[in-house]
Amino acid sequence: MWFGGDYNPEQWSKDVWDQDYRLFDEARIDTLTVGVFSWALTQPAPDVYDFTTLDGIVERALAEGRNICLATGTGAHPAWMARIFPEVTRVDFEGRRHRFGQRHNSCPSSPVFRKHSAEMARRLARRYGSLPNVVAWHVGNEYGGACYCDLCAAAFRVWLRNRYSTLDSLNEAWYTRFWSHTFTDWDEIEPPSALTEHWRGPDHTAFQGITLDYLRFMSHAMLQNFADEKAAIRESDPDTPITTNFMGMYRPIDYHRWASHLDFVSWDNYPPDDKSPERMALAHDLMRGLKGGQPFWLMEQTPSYTASRDVNPLKRPGIMGLWSWQAVAHGADAVLFFQMRASRGACEKYHGAVIGHAGRSDTRVFREVAALGRQLDELGAVTVGARTPARAALLFDWDSWWALELSDGPSRLVRYQAVVLAYYRALWSLGAQVDVVPVTASLDAYDIVVAPALHMLKAGVAQRLEDVARRGGSVVTTFLSGRVDENDNAFLMDVPGPLGPLMGVRVDEWDARGPEVVNPVLLGDSVVSEASLLFELVIPQGASVVGVYQDDFYAGTPAVTRNAFHAGEGWYVAAGLDQTGVDWVVRQVLDRHGLTGPYADVPGLEAAVRVAPDGTRLVFLLNHNASPVEVASCSTGLDLLSGERVRSGRPIRLNAHGVALVRVDR
Ligand code: GLA
Ligand code: ZN
Repeated sequence: MWFGGDYNPEQWSKDVWDQDYRLFDEARIDTLTVGVFSWALTQPAPDVYDFTTLDGIVERALAEGRNICLATGTGAHPAWMARIFPEVTRVDFEGRRHRFGQRHNSCPSSPVFRKHSAEMARRLARRYGSLPNVVAWHVGNEYGGACYCDLCAAAFRVWLRNRYSTLDSLNEAWYTRFWSHTFTDWDEIEPPSALTEHWRGPDHTAFQGITLDYLRFMSHAMLQNFADEKAAIRESDPDTPITTNFMGMYRPIDYHRWASHLDFVSWDNYPPDDKSPERMALAHDLMRGLKGGQPFWLMEQTPSYTASRDVNPLKRPGIMGLWSWQAVAHGADAVLFFQMRASRGACEKYHGAVIGHAGRSDTRVFREVAALGRQLDELGAVTVGARTPARAALLFDWDSWWALELSDGPSRLVRYQAVVLAYYRALWSLGAQVDVVPVTASLDAYDIVVAPALHMLKAGVAQRLEDVARRGGSVVTTFLSGRVDENDNAFLMDVPGPLGPLMGVRVDEWDARGPEVVNPVLLGDSVVSEASLLFELVIPQGASVVGVYQDDFYAGTPAVTRNAFHAGEGWYVAAGLDQTGVDWVVRQVLDRHGLTGPYADVPGLEAAVRVAPDGTRLVFLLNHNASPVEVASCSTGLDLLSGERVRSGRPIRLNAHGVALVRVDR
């Protein structure tokens, strides 16, 4: 398992490098990501390439026997490039042409940027690609944001021509008879921005179809940037795997459309707080699901704190280790940090690092990193390449995310990630192994498919969900699902559109209210869920009622239904249930398939399973509580971290934030 992280020795003198490597030895750091922001060094002028510094960094890493994850360094362009070619800078949503500054700052459509970034990748690959210790390529960095310049506008029009062929079909897709928008020439089409279709920011658009297509286009344009560099690397380096660092649930980039272009997925885990292990679990599962369950790299995490937030809390003792193991439990084959040594200046000087400004090894953070390094080293390769045996799937869909949050009506308060997280949280806390997959994934392996807020229903998806139920599976969906087609136009049929037959319901009306309005939903005989935000009024068309509104003029009408469909079931949750309600619904479904985990009633104890390529079953137990827990073990085998044997049914004790990794006897 790769262990290490971002290393930027170009920022300090060579005597510090000696100290770095002594400390890397101590912490068993074996992998260094280098060159992530090195473009100004490697290409100091348009026709000048200078690899002296990078050569020194790479040679030293080789001499020290470290693996290198080599970055192309194109995540920030050099100052000269912006000066000589102002087109490489971005134009923002307000229409302002930016000047040189910051990073992640290049216009994705700029021919100058595309030519120079590819050329840099090409030269790096020729120079370093065949070195045995270069184990991966890290292209660009955290692709994201957007540009609204004229070059992007022109590229958008080309992209649209490819998508629609004719203006007639574009006009139909965008519903342009509304507000006199019919386009009669491709050149009339403008990027949707504050100057055109938008007011009150990027989510308020007069034409969802236009904005949706611009999001798709921008994601595609940046994918082209990645593909440019990948192709340039492949000219001389046919084998070294190529990745770029994703960001989990990051709205601007449709990672599902990117994934097939990466040799493996990697991502940066910077959770917004330390209270949501299930949010990280969801992001890990989403990242693992990008390439059909293939393991990924945890490319970055802070060992201690971030710097970019208004308030940057410190990871408590044990948390860094716990979260690293959580990543491994969900499919990570690498545990890497940002960063190995803290920068002295600029905006990340207070960002956490394995080695701080004083270069000490006797700090708590360093000791915890070193302890993890020792554990990973002693563990060896048992977990590498292991897969997650999930029988439940959660559908995640960027198009639905975009469409839902761009929509005027019914409610700006319904947020896609919050709905998805509520359902994932239920699955997670009840102990189900979950694959988070795109709507295009094969669903054959799953007994349960949960599709929260599947707002946009693309062709064939309803059919495939019906197939799940037809062979006995359960499908769960919620309010605001099945509303629009892939152009974001409403279906000319009852809500929930093509999901109607599977769900056995019809929705004619819906009521959106502020967060202060609660309409209690009675679930089964006795559980009451404080539902809020959105209440759809359901008219059953064959479904049975399992949850009922208690208040308002629709008191007594269904809020949750369950429909027998061939051998399976379709569950429709029409209201914004609170977590108690979501948990109740998900538990009924898991119980039906015997998939409720053994620790469903132990708060904060996560169990995750991976199956190694040789069939060995690995059970991870992760105690997210700040106090110890003791439970009955659900397996017999060897805890590879403590070296102790555990027996099924016998007590197993986990310290506060403790972890066990049981290799199950065969
Ligand atoms: C991102 C970047 C890194 C660094 C970290 C800080 O993940 O990729 O270069 O800025 O954030 O948290
Ligand atoms: Zn641009």
